[in-house]
Amino acid sequence: MLRTEICDYFGIEYPIVLAGMGGVSMHRLAAAVSNAGGLGVIGAAGLDPQRLRDEIRATRKLTTKPFAVDLLAPLPEMIRPHVTVMIEEGIKIFVAGLAVPKEFIATMHEHGMKVVVMCGKVRHAQKAEAAGADAVVAQGTEAGGHTGEIGALALVPQVRDAVRIPVLAAGGISDGRGVAAALALGAAGVVVGTRFIATPEAQAAQVYREALLSAADDSTTRTRCYTGKPARCIRNSYVAEWEGDPSRIEPFPEQVRVSYKNQVMDYTGEQGDADPFRTFMPAGQGAGMIRQVEPAGELFARLVEEAKTAIRKLNRAVS
Ligand SMILES: Cc1cc2nc3c(=O)[nH]c(=O)nc-3n(C[C@H](O)[C@H](O)[C@H](O)COP(=O)(O)O)c2cc1C
Repeated sequence: MLRTEICDYFGIEYPIVLAGMGGVSMHRLAAAVSNAGGLGVIGAAGLDPQRLRDEIRATRKLTTKPFAVDLLAPLPEMIRPHVTVMIEEGIKIFVAGLAVPKEFIATMHEHGMKVVVMCGKVRHAQKAEAAGADAVVAQGTEAGGHTGEIGALALVPQVRDAVRIPVLAAGGISDGRGVAAALALGAAGVVVGTRFIATPEAQAAQVYREALLSAADDSTTRTRCYTGKPARCIRNSYVAEWEGDPSRIEPFPEQVRVSYKNQVMDYTGEQGDADPFRTFMPAGQGAGMIRQVEPAGELFARLVEEAKTAIRKLNRAVS
């Protein structure tokens, strides 16, 4: 058994949650993680409301287990129509990135939805709890995608001490030792992103998967050059060019438009023009641990077994 209070809270078997990676965590990956006993999360950032509905329905065709939807919520207008879709489709767990979705929390609760908020600082977690969030994710700077400056080792216990609601840990967790460590820090569970990109179920360009397989511990960097907000991704020559003079980088969301114009946002491979020297390839520092592409269900089972082994070892150390 590897069980914590978050398992009953979300109706899942193991305290491992798939990161709602925009464009990457689509129905196949979300369903695979849910079927393996974790919480699959659809990364719906970038989907229009109809595509969100399609993804939810496609996920339901592949699993009868609980799953969630993640959206970036920096501006209420960005997610208003999506919130209606989630309610209509009976989504019970919502994960919000980049902001506390304050305006929608009461309505979501009325419809039996739990609200989870991604946080990079203690202050963000306290704000989320005060607004009525049901759980927070303490996301360390190691994480792929938009991320803060504080390492998970320092952030998770500080968030745990600052709020009463359940805390999940994210950032750099790529094997079961990371899962065990997060639980030791006081987290009720973990959110794993980057490691799940190296699965056949992830929607990711081939060059992106290859970049992860060859990544080392220092292959990523935090840059505003793709979206205007600091995001951790694989370092390449496009990043180096912008970081040569960061004053040219526009704020969010203008810089996102610049990136689409420059055709550097196709990390999912849908347009078929991903270029490892230019394309945005969000990835965490745990990418250096990825050695192979493996089915999400097998990877999930391995994370569970490795976590149990790590915890047993620690138990022996104190007997
Ligand atoms: C490709 C990619 C896309 C991401 N997109 C989102 C997103 O749309 N919304 C969000 O809340 N977090 C997003 N994240 C951050 C993850 O939710 C999570 O915090 C992170 O992946 C955890 O760290 P790890 O990648 O080291 O496992 C993304 C991360 C990656 C790698």
